[in-house]
Amino acid sequence: MQKTAAAYSTLMILSLIFFIGCVSEKSEEKKGLKDFSSFPIGGAVEIRQVLQDTALEAIILENFTSITATSDMKMYAIAPEEGNYKWDRADSLVAFSQRNDLRLFGHTLVWHSGTPRWVFQKGTEDSLWLDDFLKTYIQDYVGRYKGKVAAWDVVNEGFDTQGGEYRKTLWYNKLGKEYIANAFRYAHEADPEADLFYNDFNLERDTAKLNGVLKMIEELKADDVPITGLGVQMHLRMDIPDSLIRESVRKMAATGLKIHFSELDIIFNTHDDTRGGGEQLYSSVTPKMLEQQAQKYEMVAKIYKEEVPVSQQFGITFWDFTDRDTWINPFFDLKDWPTIYDEKLEPKPAYFGFRKGLSE
Ligand code: G3I
Repeated sequence: MQKTAAAYSTLMILSLIFFIGCVSEKSEEKKGLKDFSSFPIGGAVEIRQVLQDTALEAIILENFTSITATSDMKMYAIAPEEGNYKWDRADSLVAFSQRNDLRLFGHTLVWHSGTPRWVFQKGTEDSLWLDDFLKTYIQDYVGRYKGKVAAWDVVNEGFDTQGGEYRKTLWYNKLGKEYIANAFRYAHEADPEADLFYNDFNLERDTAKLNGVLKMIEELKADDVPITGLGVQMHLRMDIPDSLIRESVRKMAATGLKIHFSELDIIFNTHDDTRGGGEQLYSSVTPKMLEQQAQKYEMVAKIYKEEVPVSQQFGITFWDFTDRDTWINPFFDLKDWPTIYDEKLEPKPAYFGFRKGLSE
């Protein structure tokens, strides 16, 4: 009798151990990038797609603590025609972010490529109107989402593709470089709590461009313009040396601003930065290439952790996070594999490399 009771207890204990083992293995499986990171990890999303694609939604919820809209929050989406704001997608993004406890990053208030045609036409004829529109648009928009959008790319890509000069956009040509300072002031008035970023690309590899942007930041700060963050898009190529990226990030961090790697992806092929300007160097991807890409992703995470002081770590955002959806292929007319998930939405070596960089 005693023997049976002892055997029964042993069996119960073993079952319990097995059960706990299964549960912890399951929760281990469920761990995503966010669980390995001390700072926010984000992804760029198109809200209508996310709401229809449960696999994509699952990737977001598993890995990210922050989201950015790829297009839904640009000026052409919010103010497609005169006198009519179109808030539905931004509202939907706010609801999705609140439902899932995600930080919502606002991309972007002023961007030459995001400017709708009607603003371009009217603004070209009338600078006074353009100045007034800039103020009203930003105040209406940022004011509407006060406390709901944590931070904004106030100005995106205000510098030339190469070198250190201001980009000669409608905004610059009609309002002078003051449009940048004013955009930050208007946004700050509308939501004093929101972080306000200047965002641009190639800063990690074009030293002249980085120096131009750093000079602008110094000037903005000297004029008490409420800039709190610098976004570097980080559309990387495999052949950009890690040492150059590290050195550039160190300079960015020296501004004291929050630093956002805002649009991370890493391509194998190359391009000239223009639409359709891709050069197909590799027609297929090999396991060796994927492993090298994983190492690059790992290095990017490490550089962020090592060069950006903790108090300035705003986070890292992937710009499209599946090779199925990447903007790179249609935009540059290429076939590339720049993200952390493959075309079947399986995590790539890049995913695990990045995760390793976060953990170490
Ligand atoms: O929403 C329409 C859809 O209704 C229509 O059927 C379809 C047909 O072309 O177009 C859809 O709009 C597209 C939109 O993305 C949403 O997918 C636009 O044509 C397309 O031009 C737009 O491209 C976006 C581009 O910015 C221009 O806004 C890309 O997805 C987006 O990845 C890209 O993001 C930029 C960043 O904002 C700034 N840094 C560079 C980055 C890559 O170019």
